[in-house]
Amino acid sequence: MATHKGFTLWFTGLSGAGKSTLARMIEDRLRGLGCRVELLDGDVVRTHLSKGLGFSKEDRDENIRRIGFVCQILSRNGVIAIGAAISPYRAIRDEVRGRIENFVEVYMECPLEVLVERDVKGLYKKALAGEIKQFTGVSDPYEAPLDPEVRINSSAEAPEKSLERIWETLLRLGLISPDGAAPGPAGG
Ligand code: ADX
Repeated sequence: MATHKGFTLWFTGLSGAGKSTLARMIEDRLRGLGCRVELLDGDVVRTHLSKGLGFSKEDRDENIRRIGFVCQILSRNGVIAIGAAISPYRAIRDEVRGRIENFVEVYMECPLEVLVERDVKGLYKKALAGEIKQFTGVSDPYEAPLDPEVRINSSAEAPEKSLERIWETLLRLGLISPDGAAPGPAGG
């Protein structure tokens, strides 16, 4: 059993950089230790909470505000909320950060050439061909975090190693405790 505080772990980065993969890995580990955890993934959220929103700056900002709001109310009730969305605009990420007491930002960095090469969903090919407009990193901006709590280059580091680095950060910040000692009961 691990004890934990309520906090939000926020993954940001380009499509295909590994946000969802790592978010699920950390979710699984936390759940396996008996933590109360909820994952809000952009791809999934866009099928219900953010259904109908597109990829204009306005719609992306709205998407991030909605995800951020849910993370906020979960975190303040002692739950670990994991957000995983491109969240390309720094100002909105910082706005969300400002509303959440314990906010940990993970920047998933990956060179565009690698993402184009991988192209798991085939979207970069379409974006480069002009078939998808306003595609982040190709024809739409991405504003990298200036001072994220964790910075991960998924083209240079195995996901298991990245998972460990995130874990160490959560321990160091006193947000989780592996043995049921500090930081006290969930929500504390
Ligand atoms: S965000 O910008 O609002 O944070 P979000 O993470 O929810 O984006 O959704 C991104 C996912 O939508 C991508 O992984 C990709 O599968 C899909 N997508 C479709 N169109 C675009 C686009 N124009 N730019 C980026 N991602 C897109």
